Amino acid sequence: MKKSLDLILLAIFFLELGSFFLPSILHEILGVGFLILAAIHHRKNPRARFVEILLGICTISLAISGFALMNLIDLGNFNWRSIHLGSSIAALILIFIHCMTKARRYFHGKIFYAAGVFGFILAAGGIFGLPYLDRWFHEVRVDRSEIVAGSKIDFGKNVATIYFSRVGNTDFPPDVDAVSGASIMRDGNDLIGNSEMLAMMIHDAVGGEIFEIRTLEKYPADYSATTQIAQEEFRTKKIPQLEPIELGNCDLIFIVYPLWWNSLPMPVESFLSQQNLEGKMIVPIVTHGGGGIGNSIEDLKRVTQAKIMNSLDVYSSDIPSSREVISDFLTRIRSEI
Ligand SMILES: Cc1cc2nc3c(=O)[nH]c(=O)nc-3n(C[C@H](O)[C@H](O)[C@H](O)COP(=O)(O)O)c2cc1C
Repeated sequence: MKKSLDLILLAIFFLELGSFFLPSILHEILGVGFLILAAIHHRKNPRARFVEILLGICTISLAISGFALMNLIDLGNFNWRSIHLGSSIAALILIFIHCMTKARRYFHGKIFYAAGVFGFILAAGGIFGLPYLDRWFHEVRVDRSEIVAGSKIDFGKNVATIYFSRVGNTDFPPDVDAVSGASIMRDGNDLIGNSEMLAMMIHDAVGGEIFEIRTLEKYPADYSATTQIAQEEFRTKKIPQLEPIELGNCDLIFIVYPLWWNSLPMPVESFLSQQNLEGKMIVPIVTHGGGGIGNSIEDLKRVTQAKIMNSLDVYSSDIPSSREVISDFLTRIRSEI
């Protein structure tokens, strides 16, 4: 009985790690199941040592961040996604140590070491492989007309939404089906960038004007080549040339961008450094692959005179279901203005 509980916990944990292949409701149900079984497991083995105590702390951290992400508890605008991800990686390492300590009782000599190597490969695969698989093989199909529309929030000001996205700034081949890589959503045959989708949701909520930051020189279709070019832009402080934008008279700007190398993408920096935004307010909305807002708010403060308001960050895979999160965030921001 005890051993089967251990195995069930282990199986649920690995299912949870690969949860991007599952519907999010299943991830949430399995997460709650894991929590209950972990508590039963603890009652049956109350003598916890250092590793088990740490594992317990990770499980509690996973539960709190999970509930915050599910909006079951309101603990404020914190980077719960990174806490959830960090706790699951720490739990994976601790589970590996915990299992190896237990395995010592049953396996000896070569079998023990073989089990150790197998467990290590599994843990390393979980830590490094799964986010990679998530980025490259998790294709997101959306229906714009269903996910963009939602409640409207009137700011009583001239508002503009400005976004930068990899899609729209990339030379994709005409055969859209051949395109793969992170940060791509499809609506029918159209590619939509993550920031673009968020910008459409914000524009639907707040009205006003919407602008896209477009570079004159496009990024390559290959994802890793784009990351290298972006890295080079940061290293050499290269300011990309942009298509002109006539911003007009606006007091409040929602600026939506992806986190690039933990920072503000250089095309966004290029746009902001060309504009005199003194006296205006900027609300940053960041989409990312796990890094949250990174250092991008410090970057914004460095390149613009505008007042930087509270920000929202949205994990890339959460975007299709984030319309309500955006409405809640905008309502909070309106009360702060
Ligand atoms: C050049 C480049 C650098 C990136 N760097 C990071 C990073 O440092 N941290 C992170 O969490 N995600 C990073 N990502 C992932 C994007 O932030 C994420 O996929 C985002 O949702 C893409 O939005 P978009 O479709 O609007 O471009 C990077 C993506 C690219 C293309």
